[in-house]
Amino acid sequence: MQPIEDELKKLNQEVMSCIKCDLSLTRTHAVPGEGPFSPQVMFIGEAPGEKEDQLGRPFTGRAGAILDDLLARAGLDRDRVFITSVVKCRPPKNRDPRPREIAACKPYLDRQLELLHPRLIATLGRFAMARWFPGSKISEVHGQVLEAGRIKVVPLFHPGAALHQPGYREAMIKDMEVLAEILGSV
Ligand code: URA
Ligand code: SF4
Repeated sequence: MQPIEDELKKLNQEVMSCIKCDLSLTRTHAVPGEGPFSPQVMFIGEAPGEKEDQLGRPFTGRAGAILDDLLARAGLDRDRVFITSVVKCRPPKNRDPRPREIAACKPYLDRQLELLHPRLIATLGRFAMARWFPGSKISEVHGQVLEAGRIKVVPLFHPGAALHQPGYREAMIKDMEVLAEILGSV
């Protein structure tokens, strides 16, 4: 087994039995994330929803269907990207993750980034964007290629936003196309 595979497995097991914040009390399954060891790009969402909590897999509910559609339209293959989130356990009733939950969960995302070292990151929604650009407004920077050290970060709207505001859909489609274009150049 490859060392990186070993390390990721270990990390996933730690996440699945983690009790570092109160979200562990209400979750069914923690959702560490999934994807190849050498991903084209790493997508980072907010937190698992109901379906993800049931299945233990990221973006498998209604927001996931939108993400799948956006990827397919842009010619991107879900099997070649890694998908995870800022917190790995579902907040009750899908409320926003709290600062202390994000802080408690941060070491897991840090280790995933270290192990997978993607050159390109796509943040989905404001919580993931805030990890690198806490002062930015997603409405102003979505679809732009920002630099965070040697990593390129493209902030995207959260796919779930299209469920409440269908008007976002067009921007999301465009942004994903931009992402697909720059993938060829990183
Ligand atoms: N939203 C996320 O951020 N992640 C999921 O897995 C599902 C919805
Ligand atoms: Fe642990 Fe993160 Fe789940 Fe909190 S959200 S219990 S820190 S894995």
